[in-house]
Amino acid sequence: MNVLVIGNGGREHAILTALAKSPKVGKLYCMKGNAGTAQIAENVNVDYMNINAVKEYAAAHPEIDYYVVAPDDPLAMGLVDALEEMGKRCFGPRKNAAIIEASKAFSKNLMKKYGIPTAESETFESYDKALEYVRKKGAPIVLKADGLALGKGVLVCDTLKQAEEGLKEIMLDKAFGSAGSKIVIEERMNGLKYTPGEEVSVLTFTDGKTIVPMITSCDHKRAHDGDKGLNTGGMGTFSPCPFWTPELEKEVMDTIIVPTMNAMNSEGRTFKGCLYFGLMRTDKGMKVVEYNSRFGDPETQVVLPMLKTDLMEIFEAVTDERLSEVKIEWESGACVCVVLASGGYPLGYAKGKEITIGNVGDCSIIHAGTAIKDGKLVTNGGRVLDVVARGVDIDDARRKAYAAVANINWENMQYRTDIGIKYRKG
Ligand code: AMP
Ligand code: GLY
Repeated sequence: MNVLVIGNGGREHAILTALAKSPKVGKLYCMKGNAGTAQIAENVNVDYMNINAVKEYAAAHPEIDYYVVAPDDPLAMGLVDALEEMGKRCFGPRKNAAIIEASKAFSKNLMKKYGIPTAESETFESYDKALEYVRKKGAPIVLKADGLALGKGVLVCDTLKQAEEGLKEIMLDKAFGSAGSKIVIEERMNGLKYTPGEEVSVLTFTDGKTIVPMITSCDHKRAHDGDKGLNTGGMGTFSPCPFWTPELEKEVMDTIIVPTMNAMNSEGRTFKGCLYFGLMRTDKGMKVVEYNSRFGDPETQVVLPMLKTDLMEIFEAVTDERLSEVKIEWESGACVCVVLASGGYPLGYAKGKEITIGNVGDCSIIHAGTAIKDGKLVTNGGRVLDVVARGVDIDDARRKAYAAVANINWENMQYRTDIGIKYRKG
């Protein structure tokens, strides 16, 4: 099968890397891709946010058998619906299911309606009513812009003053554009052992009938060591999560994961694809922080290298709604991903800096924001490279990853040195 993956980042390079191992897969394509995806796939220079342009391309390329839509924006826009209407086989939810990520108001209402544990919240469209509610509840309090905001539309406020300013920023100054015309205001959850609360990402494969959790992982959202600095798209990940136990998995399957699949079915919004559960272990049990309608980035970079089963076989089983027939198996040991970013990220940064890569041992170098300019590999985004190492345990994988990082360089490269050390105490 010839497969086209839609997206440009590390997640897409990781998906392509996993697909390239499948004996079922012939030629790979990536729309639009980066310098890394170009090494294993043909990059296709079409704007995937332009549905008509993608449809035209698909019509002109009948040799492509399968499409994987990886990023949130084209899923929310209905790209899978458009391709399926043309008779194309796809991995990814339709628009009416992708709303589980695209609208926080939708997902909070879903959880409320079906009794799925999450932080208590209210949704507002009026600034005055939201302000009144914030003043009544007081701090700490969490503000969330309703729509997609590159993972940056959430403000965890410690003081009432911060919350009042944040509310103005989101609803009046429109810091996140139209994503902020509705706002979800929720209680701040507390972790069981840590502050801020301990978080785990559970990606799942689901065909709407069966839902299978992947190996767990943990993200590092803040820009700097010790969880300091601004929120980013993710500065590194590791797998598996150290505090995960079979008991927690059972609790989460029974109270969150299966009920969410059933809830979406009851709403007539069957979800097929990768449904991502961002969870927190709180002093009141496991709760949902957020849903994503897609593979996480950079979670995918540590989860897929641990997958023993053929990814293409799983994708096809999801499309054909026979996921229950596939036995999904995972490697033992651990995997760590250190993100190398451009200096200044997530705020302003330079592009076009030449990258040098020396000896990286047996690490895999996944490209996020790279390009080839005048025959040279250069930076082309905020997050540039992901250094991925497998090891017998997290420490082993960490050592390998940072040994490779020491041999990679460009002007003003920025990264965290503490990926993989959190939640040591379980
Ligand atoms: P989200 O984009 O919804 O995942 O939120 C971004 C981050 O904000 C999460 O990863 C948490 O660290 C934090 N967060 C979100 N909601 C809450 C909450 N209700 N209580 C505490 N922390 C939260
Ligand atoms: N790493 C979090 C996300 O993909 O949204």
